[in-house]
This record gives sequence, structure tokens and C-alpha cells, in this order.
Amino acid sequence: MKFDAAYFSNLTPGQGPENLIRLLQEVQLMEGYISAEAIAAVSLHLRIPENKIIGVMSFYRQFRVKPAGKLVITACNCPNCHLNGGSQILAELENILKLKPGQTGRDKRFTLLTETCLGGCGKLPVIRINDTHHKITSSDQLRHLIDSLP
Ligand code: FES
Repeated sequence: MKFDAAYFSNLTPGQGPENLIRLLQEVQLMEGYISAEAIAAVSLHLRIPENKIIGVMSFYRQFRVKPAGKLVITACNCPNCHLNGGSQILAELENILKLKPGQTGRDKRFTLLTETCLGGCGKLPVIRINDTHHKITSSDQLRHLIDSLP
């Protein structure tokens, strides 16, 4: 869905910087990424300079500034997952999807990202497909998972 600047007219103006992350998350849910137009609207609404918003967005890797694919696959690149085979899983994803981290396929089906700890640490490497976490047990399981996606 395209970002709708009218969204902010339903909110109390000047809510303060403590609402920045939540608003950015809502905008990203609305349009799939955070456009320059949306950054300007958030800036006006919260009275925070655009360059500060961009600084916050660059700190939190969850925020995207480019349109993403229908399926956003995020691989954990933290040492814990790395030690459990996470780097092999990322290499396998790159091979299956024919994408490098940060890229979206031409058909806009997949976006591949990496993130520091997806919050699913354990004995198996973790990936996230849109909002769902998956523990990966093998290359075959990963390939089957990707093949089964809509
Ligand atoms: S270290 Fe990979 S999910 Fe936390």
C-alpha cells in the first residue's frame, strides 16, 4: 500500500521523539519501505529534522529506504548463528535467490537482507521471512522452505 500522508492528520500533532520508531514502523508496514515523502511527513508531525530521522533509520537496520520484494528474507549475521552454520545458510540463500544482501530481484518477489541477531538465538541458524522466524537445520530444509513459499 502506498504511504498516505493523511495518516498523520488522525494523530495528535507533536507527539515527541519517543514515538519516532513506532511511526517509522507503521509507515514501513503501510508502504513496504520509508520514502522521502514519508520522512518529510514524519519530520513535520514529530518536529524532528529529517536528517535526524535518517540517522535513526540508518542505526536500526529494520528500516528500508527502497521498495522491498513481496518476500523479505533476512539472515542473521551474528556470531552465534555464524558459529552454528549461519554463513553457509547465507551463501545458500544467495545461491538460491541469485541475490546479494541488500538486493531485490527484478521480479520484486524476493529481497535478501542480513541483520544483527534476529532474536531467535539457539543451536541452529535463524532466518526471518517477512515476520516469521525459521530455524534452519540443513541446506535441503532451506531449499524446501524457499520452494514452498507462495
Ligand atoms: S545470533 Fe542469530 S538470531 Fe541471535
